[in-house]
Formats: sequence, structure tokens, C-alpha cells
Amino acid sequence: DMGGHDTYMHKEIHEQAEAVDRVLRGRIDDRFSTVHLGGLNLDARDARAVRRVKILGCGTSYHAGQIGAQMIEELARIPADAEPASEFRYRNAVVDPDTLYIAVSQSGETYDVLAAVQELKRKGARVLGIVNVVGSAIAREADGGMYVHAGPEVCVVSTKCFTNTCVAFALLALHLGRTRDLSVRDGKRIIEGLRKLPAQIEEMLKQEEDVKKLAAQYADARSMLFIGRVRGYPVAREASLKLKEVSYIHAEAYPASELKHGPLALIEPALPTVAIVPDDDLLEKNRAAMEEIKARSGQILAVAHQEQEKADHTIVVPKNEDELDPILMGIPLQLLAYHTALALGRDIDKPRNLAKSVTVE
Ligand code: F6R
Repeated sequence: DMGGHDTYMHKEIHEQAEAVDRVLRGRIDDRFSTVHLGGLNLDARDARAVRRVKILGCGTSYHAGQIGAQMIEELARIPADAEPASEFRYRNAVVDPDTLYIAVSQSGETYDVLAAVQELKRKGARVLGIVNVVGSAIAREADGGMYVHAGPEVCVVSTKCFTNTCVAFALLALHLGRTRDLSVRDGKRIIEGLRKLPAQIEEMLKQEEDVKKLAAQYADARSMLFIGRVRGYPVAREASLKLKEVSYIHAEAYPASELKHGPLALIEPALPTVAIVPDDDLLEKNRAAMEEIKARSGQILAVAHQEQEKADHTIVVPKNEDELDPILMGIPLQLLAYHTALALGRDIDKPRNLAKSVTVE
């Protein structure tokens, strides 16, 4: 049942405020400015013994993991990174008992992720699952974890589960942070930011008509470039993947800082750039990157917290706490991919060559 929407993708994009409300529900502890995540099976002593965090996933779940790794580094000051599960599994990675491994999967059935979890467990590592489908193979195999409660996701292309997984990571980062040096005050600040998300998502979705008009302008592009720095970079990567999957337009994501090391050679009027420009410490650097692109007659669509004068168009996203900004910035880019695909008449819920859950290697 699509509940009045023409596609599941559209329905699922519009379910995100509710979905985020669900992942937060019952988990926030205002008294100690932290969160309760009983399913982690990780007591405070275990949490403090973690020396590193390694996040494994595929596709969109891997991108959510990149955002999660940044949140864990920022809020808990634990070195963290994300890697495609398939790569990790085949490079005979060093498995370290002081590292906390986190497997991320919407379906909980992705073969490469499951096999990575099994290999890790065979080597005595502690593995948590951040999973959407309750009782799935990865959820059962992990030592503990958290469900992201996005609800059923039918469209092959992941939207609401990405957003909820990012929120789940924010909760985990807050929890790990508060077992360490994150102050009560910062804990409160993040909790307040999390509570604002559902209303801000609704506010964002009200701009759908504007995004639709922009999508119509870019639908004839043969290729698009997505750029961002630090918090904006995984958002750029996810937006690039979303556009490719659903519209079949070639897209590439690059850190804005790397432009001058190669991709600037591509800039011309026929290659539009989408710039992710959060209002954080890197704002001026991002503006400089947009200037470089403009100087070469490239078109720019900025996704930012305020109108960007260097850009041809700006989608203005509600501002949250810096650490949580990637969550909201992803949403207009889902709409952009959706409306581009719609303008091109694509099979949105079932893109060619793709399957919802990849249970083979
Ligand atoms: C992207 C997409 C895929 C999946 C990937 C992992 O929209 O749907 O990239 O994210 O196949 O799937 P899960 O999260 O089920 O492990």
C-alpha cells in the first residue's frame, strides 16, 4: 500500500520524520544527558576499553557508517572509520581485540556483511549490528546492537533507513561519548538537536516543489559532480550513489579539497556540481571551492544553511548542531535523485540491474 504516493521511494522519503521519532523513542535519558542502548550488551567498562571503532557495510549503509565514524570521533574521541565490508573481508585485515566492530545493514542479510561478521567472530572480535530488519541474519550473528526502526523499506533504493541509521549512530556516539569525556552540557546539546530533527525534516520536505524544479533543470546532464568536506563529504557520496541508482545519470563524489588535484580539469558548463556546504568551520573553504568552479563556468547547486552567492541555486536546509548536520543535508538530495529519475521516466522503485538485498557474493 503506497498510501497515496506514486512510488514507495516517495512514500519512504516522506516517512522520515516519523521514522526518526521511532529510533529516538524510549532511548533518551535526560537525567544523565545520555541514551540507553540495552541491546548493545556493552557495559560502561567495556565501552571504556574500546580503543578503535571499525564500521563495515555496503552501499548506502557504508555511507551511513562513514557519517557514524565521524560522529563517534567527534563525540567520543575514539578513532573510527568505515570500510566496505567486501574489501575488509578480502584483504586479510588485522583483527584487534580492542577494536569495536560495527556491521551496518538495512536488510540484515547482505552476504558480504554477514561473512565479515562471521570472520570477525571466528577471530574473537566483538561485533555489534546496526540493522533495520528485526531478527535478520546479521542481527542474530552479532554480539549485540541496535535496531534502527525505520520500518519496512520496499523501494530498492534506501532513503529512510539511511537517515535512521545516521540517527542511530548519533545515539551510539553520544552513549560512547558520555562514558568518556563528553560533558553533560554537550550531551544535552546533542539531545536537543536530536529532538529537533523530526520537525526539521518536515520543514525540509515542504521544499519539495522547489527541488523538483531544480531537478528538471539538471535532468539532461550526462554527469554530475558532488563535492563536500569532512561532514559534507559522505553526504556527497551518498547523494552521488542515489542519483546514479535511480536516474542512471553518471555521478562522482569528491572531497572539495581534492578538486585542484585533478577533477577541476572536468569543469565546464555541461558538468553541474552539487556542493554540500554546511555552516561550520569549513564554510569559507567551501566557498573558495565554489569560486574555483564558477571561474571555469561550471554550474553549481548548493545545499547549505544559507543562500550561497557563488552558487546558481541554493537549497537551504534547517541548521542543527554541527555534528548532526549531515542527517538533514541528505534529505533534499534524496528528493533531487527522485525528481530527476521521475523527469526521466525511470522505474524508480526497481532500478535496472539492482536487487533490494544482495544475498550472494
Ligand atoms: C542504496 C542501496 C544499496 C544498499 C546495499 C546494502 O540505495 O540500496 O547500496 O544500501 O546493498 O544493503 P543493506 O543495507 O541491506 O546491507
